[in-house]
Amino acid sequence: MTEIKIPEHLAIIMDGNGRWAKKRDLARIFGHRQGADVVHDIVQYTSDIGVKYLTLYAFSMENWLRPKDEVGFLMKLIEEYLNKEVEEMDKNNVRLLVSGRTHLLPDETREIIEQSIEKLSKNTGMVLNLCISYGGRSEIVDAARKMAELVIQGEIELTKIERDEFGQFMYNPEVPDIDLLIRSSGEIRISNFMLWRAAYCELYFTDTLWPDFDKKIIDEAFAEYSSRARRFGMTDEQMADEDE
Ligand code: IPE
Ligand code: IPE
Ligand code: MG
Repeated sequence: MTEIKIPEHLAIIMDGNGRWAKKRDLARIFGHRQGADVVHDIVQYTSDIGVKYLTLYAFSMENWLRPKDEVGFLMKLIEEYLNKEVEEMDKNNVRLLVSGRTHLLPDETREIIEQSIEKLSKNTGMVLNLCISYGGRSEIVDAARKMAELVIQGEIELTKIERDEFGQFMYNPEVPDIDLLIRSSGEIRISNFMLWRAAYCELYFTDTLWPDFDKKIIDEAFAEYSSRARRFGMTDEQMADEDE
């Protein structure tokens, strides 16, 4: 049996809440509520088993286009989740980051996010990076703007900007590249998620809808991940040399 490798940065596209509710003749919001309970369990489990960074796609830039009521409910759910979970995250030594165009969020949601980040800021365990009002393309556009501003001000030289330097302009640049990306609900697509940091991630898709997701799927994904040969464009022999 291959040894189980724990990805340093695990990212999850939590999808399928609406379909979960529809299957039960319930309104979509019931799926979102159930999904929030799963987030609790997965944060706890991944922190216990030693994941260093967990990024969760909670609300995309495109999700702003959903019906107003659903968007409003999701904002309230984010507030409720943070209010309810912040103490336990603190006990578990979890630090919180939020990635996205947070200036678009309602004031109340933004304030609760800022308070939670502050309260957990000294923690040294797993980093939970919530992508809220997040788009992979917007992140790259925002990075290009930040960089251009510094170039215009004469603070950096354009010719000195290479891949790694440009990466430093992404949201929360301390968050490394994704090692493993899991998407639930059977959709086989990226949906504008972490385009920059997903460049060489391993992909794992499950048909399970997010409200039915549990830690067994994490175990299955990690087992599969551990059996993959990552080459980053190089050869197996070169990778073996690097491991030595
Ligand atoms: C994921 O579930 C949650 C968000 C995108 C906010 P969906 O709401 O996309 O559920 P489906 O994909 O319609 O089933
Ligand atoms: C991706 O799911 C966004 C989140 C999980 C937050 P969507 O349900 O929005 O993606 P599409 O529209 O099916 O591609
Ligand atoms: Mg969806």
